[in-house]
Amino acid sequence: MNISIIGTGYVGLTTGVGFAVKGNEVSCVDIDEKKVERINLGDSPIYEPLLDDYLKRVLDQRRFKATTDLKSAVMNSEVSFISVGTPSGEGGKIDLKFIDQVSKQIGDILKIKDLYHIIVVKSTVIPETTEKVVLKNLEERSGKKAGDDFGVCMNPEFLREGVAMEDFLNPDRVVIGSIDKKSGDVIERLYENFKAPILRTNLKTAEMIKYASNSLLATKISFTNEVGNICKKIGIDVNEVMKGVGLDHRISDKFLNAGCGYGGSCFPKDVEALIGKGRDTGYEPKLLQEVHDTNMRQKVIIVKQLEEKLGDLKGKTISILGLAFKPDSDDIREASSIEIIKKLTEKGANIKTYDPKAMGHMRNVFPDIEYSKSAKEAIKDSDACLILTHWKEFKDLREEDFKEMSNRLIIEGRRILDRERVFGFDGVCW
Ligand code: UGA
Repeated sequence: MNISIIGTGYVGLTTGVGFAVKGNEVSCVDIDEKKVERINLGDSPIYEPLLDDYLKRVLDQRRFKATTDLKSAVMNSEVSFISVGTPSGEGGKIDLKFIDQVSKQIGDILKIKDLYHIIVVKSTVIPETTEKVVLKNLEERSGKKAGDDFGVCMNPEFLREGVAMEDFLNPDRVVIGSIDKKSGDVIERLYENFKAPILRTNLKTAEMIKYASNSLLATKISFTNEVGNICKKIGIDVNEVMKGVGLDHRISDKFLNAGCGYGGSCFPKDVEALIGKGRDTGYEPKLLQEVHDTNMRQKVIIVKQLEEKLGDLKGKTISILGLAFKPDSDDIREASSIEIIKKLTEKGANIKTYDPKAMGHMRNVFPDIEYSKSAKEAIKDSDACLILTHWKEFKDLREEDFKEMSNRLIIEGRRILDRERVFGFDGVCW
């Protein structure tokens, strides 16, 4: 099938490359010329393992290209996926400006396109957006009727950063919301060579499945952290507790890792957006609000622990290992490290950091802190060391790497250090 994908963020690019791997002809559209140039050279603008390899492969096979020409991409494809960003707007509510713009532009193109075309919303959008914003814009701008002249679907993504390519090629499920059977059937055909159950729904149900999924995963994490905070007070290891809890197949052991809170471009934003939508309907989502608040507290709980052990932090040197919101990613959006560094610098501490991938981005946020070439260099001469991202290379740290600290205090925000290799460290809630 000929597909156009609008937006080359990590979802758009992974989806585009993924559909090309599955044998389709794909054009990925972006307004950023430099990004388009890089993609066409096989150089992905985002760090995502496996993406560069697959990108090079589909470019060589001439099944994939990036372009700034939206009109020709839509005119020459049967299906257009919208995967532009949906950032947080005022009061945590979703900001739909990119969705609004793109759907108007596609509507203008549909006006002059004679062939039946399907528009699929891939971006995470709050329930009713596809119908009330996208479909409405498409009809108004094209002067045509959804269902008769063109199709509309909502097909949420469940990709995790860092393993996005694998998640795309091996999904747990595919959800297809559609305004009618005809357009849903076409999208179902696109997924027929994937080994995954397909769930067909209406548009707003598909939108809600995405929010409910992310909010439930975020709830599992905040729940675990809350139990962890109680466990720490009575000397119980929350990780052992959750191992026992997760063995119940109704619960599963996934997303029960305690730590210094969840970050990233999805959970914080999506939980807040669902809270906002709930309020709009006149319902107060207290549980979700608490999931969010617990997470905000959890992100900085480690600073309080430092103060309890070190006293006044003014003039103290704190080394921070891990800045990205999760391993195998250079993404620092909503990362716990940002809140922690902010608090520590406000208290007058000196910060030395190391992250294998995310230091470039963090320099734009904190240009004045110290960035080290290795974990060992960051740790040297520090009064305390915090580990905030679950990078594999931190697993290899050993006792001698911590030998040159001025004061021996190590607190893990993610469970990563090996007790056989490093002796004497503390956990954020274990
Ligand atoms: C998340 C979802 O997992 C994807 O299914 C979804 O498609 C994506 O959001 C999205 O909406 O686009 P992602 O944000 O890439 O994916 O990362 P996760 O692996 O879910 O991790 C999110 C955060 O939760 C990280 O900060 C991670 O460290 C934290 N986390 C995760 C925990 O603190 N404990 C856990 O047990 C698991």
